[in-house]
Amino acid sequence: MSVRVLFVCLGNICRSPMAEAVFQQKVEQAGLSDSITVDSAGTGSWHIGEPAHSGTLEVLKRHGIPYDGRARQLRRSDAEAFDYIVVMDEENLEDARRVLGAHPNLRLFLSYANTTGATKTSEVPDPYYTGQFDAVYALVSTGADALLAHIRKAEGL
Ligand code: 4NP
Repeated sequence: MSVRVLFVCLGNICRSPMAEAVFQQKVEQAGLSDSITVDSAGTGSWHIGEPAHSGTLEVLKRHGIPYDGRARQLRRSDAEAFDYIVVMDEENLEDARRVLGAHPNLRLFLSYANTTGATKTSEVPDPYYTGQFDAVYALVSTGADALLAHIRKAEGL
């Protein structure tokens, strides 16, 4: 049975799809595609069914990372369906707790990179408002490395 990882942000069109795509590529590069499965969701409902934001798709394309997911909303059953639920900011954490209840691995994405000292900021800022998709990509890539290292150690992969 594989380890299931869910990335969560507000709209599921900017940050969590980027994290999903970047993490998926790192999983593939590590030869762990059969052991780790990845998805993303948003706490909000505004963008259900939409493709990722053009800013996210553009930065992913520039880095040679494919993505064709569509936005969906976080649901109660995700608590049982995923082993790691990884959120982008404190607001997502609060909203996800409300939807999911208690979960052993519901954490801020950058908390894994904070532990290793790879990052100092604890939240991934929302590029929907700032347009800073490249800065978000850099944070997401660093965060994905730290998360993958944590999961490999914790799960013996
Ligand atoms: P995301 O960005 O949470 O990174 O997908 C947002 C996208 C859309 C909205 C907010 C944040 N919105 O309010 O529509």
